[in-house]
Amino acid sequence: MTNDVGADGSIVKGGDRAPPGLDGEREAVWIEVIRKMDEVYADLLRYETDLEQKNAALEEAQAFISSVIESVSDILIACGRDGSILQVNPAAVYLFGRPAEALTGRPLVELIDAPDRVRVDALLKAGLSSDVMTFEIRFVTASGISDLYAVNGATRYDPAGARVGTVLTGRPIGELRRAYEALHAAHSELQRAQRQLVEQEKMASLGRLVAGVAHELNNPISFVYGNIHTLERYRQRLGTYLGAIHGGADAAEIDALRHELRIDALLDDSGSLIEGTLEGAMRVSDIVKNLRRLSFLKAGEAQQVDIERVIRTAARWASRAKAGRVEIVFHIEKDLSVVGNEGQFHQIIVNLVDNALDASRGATEPLIEIRASRRGGEVAIAIADNGPGFAEGLIDKIFEPFFTTKPVGEGTGLGLWISYGIAREYGGALAAANRSGGGAVFTLTLPAG
Ligand SMILES: Nc1ncnc2c1ncn2[C@@H]1O[C@H](COP(=O)(O)OP(=O)(O)OP(=O)(O)O)[C@@H](O)[C@H]1O
Ligand SMILES: [Mg+2]
Repeated sequence: MTNDVGADGSIVKGGDRAPPGLDGEREAVWIEVIRKMDEVYADLLRYETDLEQKNAALEEAQAFISSVIESVSDILIACGRDGSILQVNPAAVYLFGRPAEALTGRPLVELIDAPDRVRVDALLKAGLSSDVMTFEIRFVTASGISDLYAVNGATRYDPAGARVGTVLTGRPIGELRRAYEALHAAHSELQRAQRQLVEQEKMASLGRLVAGVAHELNNPISFVYGNIHTLERYRQRLGTYLGAIHGGADAAEIDALRHELRIDALLDDSGSLIEGTLEGAMRVSDIVKNLRRLSFLKAGEAQQVDIERVIRTAARWASRAKAGRVEIVFHIEKDLSVVGNEGQFHQIIVNLVDNALDASRGATEPLIEIRASRRGGEVAIAIADNGPGFAEGLIDKIFEPFFTTKPVGEGTGLGLWISYGIAREYGGALAAANRSGGGAVFTLTLPAG
């Protein structure tokens, strides 16, 4: 026997069924109810799956955030508006040496070292004056005061934009600071050592120069000194002789005195004595003149200098001052120029041509070749001769002040030293070499201007 559902929802036993018209209506209502229930049920199922999916996504997001926070090696501390700790990451737990539960709820300020405590506390409570602030502070940890930390503080807002606290992230900078200070100290020490070295080098070259000057001057001065002594003795002898004459001595006495005082020899000798003294004085004056050239190293205004013109005039100057005929051939590229003081470049070329003239003088057909060309950003000037070139080991010495192989009176040994100094002054170079076919070549390079 089957049961039916009545219009009021009561169960109607099969035996006493309602009339057929009413039955149909009830059934339709009943079907509608079931359909609605099915719908609700389906909705419920859908909501449940939705919720499960959202929950899974949420868990995943939370796990991701936690894993990120936990793996961050910087310390991370979230504080409430009152400055109390809400959450810390493992790096902070490790730093403070206390479990997270012992840290949460505590005022952060208790964990900050005294000098910055008040300032940071005020900032945490009042809110940071800018969205991100940086402090350098030390923390109070279970094992004492920590290293110095660089801490960034950022204001934390709720979804409505109200300030709800602060997030602090920090990393130790003590090691970095110490490394930086050590580096700084090493750098200063290096600079000091470099200055000292430069000073020492300057003093050493000054010392060499002074020793050279002393040596060079010593020779003619002792020469002059000796001559003056002799002249003084001659003067005394002449005084005695003239005294006798003016005193009215007779001819025999005067003659005897003339022999005794060797007056004739004295007069013969005094000419060369005076000449020698004069030569010595001239040598001293030459050395002084050459030394004065040094003080012109920085003189003059920088201007664009036409290389061809400087070479040709300098070569003319140098050869005019020397006796003997030497052929000079020029191979000079057009429009070469450098920037600097023309007089100084002129001086270098005169010195080099002067040396080349001296060197090639002994050759059967003395020849000097001067080449100038551009090499990248530089102008290279080569002055070659067909003289004897340099003997073994000589090239190392020729740029030293007062080094000369020339006879006394012909060279002071300052020409190359001065030229080298000028070239260096302009960021250029001066080098010497033997030519493969014999003779010497000097190459001057200067930055092209
Ligand atoms: N072209 C050259 N060939 C061979 N030797 C040279 C040449 N140029 C220079 N020297 C050598 O280098 C030495 C030093 O030259 P430097 O020009 O400095 O002095 P100096 O010519 O002797 O004297 P100063 O130039 O002061 O009158 C010369 O004495 C010489 O021995
Ligand atoms: Mg010279």
